Amino acid sequence: MIGQDLLGIESLDRERIELILETAEKMQEIGTRDVKKVPTLRGRTVVNLFFEPSTRTQTSFEIAGKRLAADVVNFSVSSSSLSKAESLLDTAKTLDAMDPDAVIVRHKVAGVPQRIADVLDAPVINAGDGAHEHPTQALLDMLTVYQEKGRIEGLSVAIIGDIAHSRVARSNIYGFTRLGAEVRVAGPPTMLPPQVDVLGVKAYTSLREALDGVDVVMALRIQNERLGGGIFPSVREYSSTFGLDRAKLRFARPDAIVMHPGPVNRGVELSHDLADHRPSVILDQVRNGVALRMALLYLIAGRDFPQDQE
Ligand code: CP
Repeated sequence: MIGQDLLGIESLDRERIELILETAEKMQEIGTRDVKKVPTLRGRTVVNLFFEPSTRTQTSFEIAGKRLAADVVNFSVSSSSLSKAESLLDTAKTLDAMDPDAVIVRHKVAGVPQRIADVLDAPVINAGDGAHEHPTQALLDMLTVYQEKGRIEGLSVAIIGDIAHSRVARSNIYGFTRLGAEVRVAGPPTMLPPQVDVLGVKAYTSLREALDGVDVVMALRIQNERLGGGIFPSVREYSSTFGLDRAKLRFARPDAIVMHPGPVNRGVELSHDLADHRPSVILDQVRNGVALRMALLYLIAGRDFPQDQE
């Protein structure tokens, strides 16, 4: 994968997904060391180019790069020449002229990472674009499920909520189906994309039916910033019908785990109790995000494997 862009899960075959997950498992050991740093990416430069707010993705890419000894630059949109009307592509080309080894892009508009990748020499990693894809989130979700369940093939995964506006849902649908899981989606009809079955998933408007016997329940954030209004009557009604709590979780398998990409709207898509306690694995997802992003930086911008380095 050296020098290649990672723009979505849709274009990743099973072999490459498995390679990334196996590499991430090896990277996890570095996070347990007293000194959490190896020289794998010494002399390499990683640029975080985030045009949308982020806590988990931006911070974990920064920590991942630093654990591999890369120089990580967090580009500040608000204090950049974008505020002097420099275009997005001119900004990207300007950064590319400084010879970064990887550029991480998040943007509210679907397709921007692809557009930037088209004009950059450096490989681009999509950190979330509009309602299109969030590939690194899906990869860390697959890693978390694999480590919890010991497999992905044959599992049932229910994704609940605003499927139509969710880049996390799309990337997870591509990823989990490619690894042989059954994927169900559930939400109010206005939150289910038309013809969602072409993605190889079954759609439900009944939470009870969607959860019946599943191994994994993934609640999605209600994305107020992408909603035009009129999608559901009220937050209270959404919460009572599709918000997950322990009572509704009883429809799933007794050993089902609960996931959420964050940030969580507590009391809306997830009860406070489930947000904080098992079977929720939300903080494991966050922790795995660092190892997963280390794996990607190593595979895309790296050289020697860190196990051989002190
Ligand atoms: N899951 C996720 O993308 O979170 P952030 O917006 O905090 O990066």
